[in-house]
Amino acid sequence: MSIADPIASRPATGDPSIPGEAVLAWEEQAVDAGLVLRHLSGTIGTEITGLDASRPLPDDVRDAVRQVWLARRVVFFPEQHLDPGQHRAFAAEFGEPSRAHPVIPGLDGHPDVLELDYSKSEELAKAYGQIAERRGNAPTWHTDVTFVARPPLGSILNAVSIPPAGGDTLWSDQVAAFRSLSPTLQAFLRTLTAVHDGTDQFSTLLEIVGSGEWEGRPFTLEPSEHPVVRTHPETGEEILFVNPGFTSHIVGLSRPESDHLLAYLYAQATKDEHVVRYKWTEGTLGFWDNRATQHAVVADFTGHRAIHRVTLRGDEPR
Ligand SMILES: [Fe+2]
Repeated sequence: MSIADPIASRPATGDPSIPGEAVLAWEEQAVDAGLVLRHLSGTIGTEITGLDASRPLPDDVRDAVRQVWLARRVVFFPEQHLDPGQHRAFAAEFGEPSRAHPVIPGLDGHPDVLELDYSKSEELAKAYGQIAERRGNAPTWHTDVTFVARPPLGSILNAVSIPPAGGDTLWSDQVAAFRSLSPTLQAFLRTLTAVHDGTDQFSTLLEIVGSGEWEGRPFTLEPSEHPVVRTHPETGEEILFVNPGFTSHIVGLSRPESDHLLAYLYAQATKDEHVVRYKWTEGTLGFWDNRATQHAVVADFTGHRAIHRVTLRGDEPR
């Protein structure tokens, strides 16, 4: 058994012949399915090669990818170059594709494929530009669409057009973030819920677009309340589930208490040791677990950047 390019700092990519370097069960499963793993940080992010995403996946490959994805939160598949139909089909291997976004319409002929290309949508550029400006152009950390009752399970990105430099995406591991807190703070956070509200970002866009849809019903920007600590429905892990994109406040605290606590949690949530930074190449797919991560785009690019996204239906955070 061999695992290529063991660059990770944790023993996850260890050579089993070296004492003290354990190979984890999900890594062994991946290797047995013919996959090659390249871990990109200590806890989060792995590149996977050895599969063809344009064809239906054999069961052992699909199962192995899912295990790597659950363990590493975000996985990347370089050199796949899928068209929108193939992209949707690959996403459907891992869940039920939902409408691209509750407010932003999908591609013509592919309603499940969202095109993230600010050069094509003034409204999109304006909505995201406003958010970036308000935050002093710091990376806009968020978890996608947490302002609905059942936020997405995850999304699959397809890097269609990438500038020569800049426009990397950051993901942070919210399981690791929760584990890094003291047991006393963890216990307090387990008792709390928070309100998530998309009005700030999407009310103008909803007005311009006219109407939205989510889970087959007309979409309204009604805020949702979620636990501050959710339990991962597949792994049982506890996840810090607040994000600066959409969490407006913690229920039951005064506004200053809520603001200070959230600011502390966001600082913990995006510490370097919980984050992977990915430099895109055209044709690469990126698949993240939206239940257990936050992400942000680094707004340092000037050239054309177009990324397609297919989103998978999620469940109610508990
Ligand atoms: Fe996002």
